[in-house]
Amino acid sequence: MMLKYPLLMLVRARTCRLFAPRFVNMSSKAISPEKISKAIPIPQYISKFYWWAYTDPPSMKFWDHPFVVNFILYGNYNMLRTKAAEALCSSNNSIQGSTLQISCAYGDMTEQVVRRMGEDSSLQIIDVVPAQLTFTESKLRQNFGDEINSEKIKFKIEDATNLSFSSDSYDQVLVYLLIHELPTDAKRLVLSEAVRVLKPGGKLVCVEFHPPKRFQIVQLWTRLVFWMFEPFAKEMLHFQLTEWMPKHAKFLRVEKMTFFGNLFQRVIFVKRNA
Ligand SMILES: C[S@@+](CC[C@H](N)C(=O)[O-])C[C@H]1O[C@@H](n2cnc3c(N)ncnc32)[C@H](O)[C@@H]1O
Repeated sequence: MMLKYPLLMLVRARTCRLFAPRFVNMSSKAISPEKISKAIPIPQYISKFYWWAYTDPPSMKFWDHPFVVNFILYGNYNMLRTKAAEALCSSNNSIQGSTLQISCAYGDMTEQVVRRMGEDSSLQIIDVVPAQLTFTESKLRQNFGDEINSEKIKFKIEDATNLSFSSDSYDQVLVYLLIHELPTDAKRLVLSEAVRVLKPGGKLVCVEFHPPKRFQIVQLWTRLVFWMFEPFAKEMLHFQLTEWMPKHAKFLRVEKMTFFGNLFQRVIFVKRNA
């Protein structure tokens, strides 16, 4: 079973073009209509390449196991989530002000953020796939009860390449393990939108893959996973995140840490006044 399922996933991933439209429709049905303020289409790269991970309910059950993601990340899943959440915290080790989380697949990262939220803080969670928001919301509700209903934590269907939020409106923006899944144009747009909605002095926290050291053996596994499942991720092994940052973006500070022989990175961009 343990071996059969990943193989099945691989076959499904590689034949995604055949089945994509059917599964995308299935996922849309699962969403409560009141959540959908306006129709936002699921981007083509998701329905074509990632439907098996994000929009197909039976597969979602499979991927919602930390050990599966951990396997892909060499057991670094918890460490990366913790590093991301810690970077959002102020000096008192809790998250202050307003935070925007751009994409929330399966809600495990969101859980780490919610645990650290200070009293007067707020969290806006967005994703372009309604099923992911529903999934995250119910997981948070299980863990945190009615806190999730409050004005503090909000869910919204949004395309991160074209956010509806005003410029300079968030104290923190989190982009966790999203960029590697995006086509190049979308990488640029998402980072540009993330910087736009960030307040001057605010922090953009990105956690991502990073170009590994030259002869690092473990990267072979990453390359295999990218080849099988992640058609746009190979770029991460060759370029820094700044490659896709808007040229006009100005930062007071950029703090980069790498982990696991350089294979992963956390970068904190502190926005400067225009
Ligand atoms: C690899 S996961 C990112 C991990 C996620 N940030 C987390 O907190 O665990 C990909 C997620 O990004 C979402 N996504 C992909 N493209 C998007 C876009 N243009 N706008 C918003 N969400 C997007 C997918 O629906 C999926 O939930």
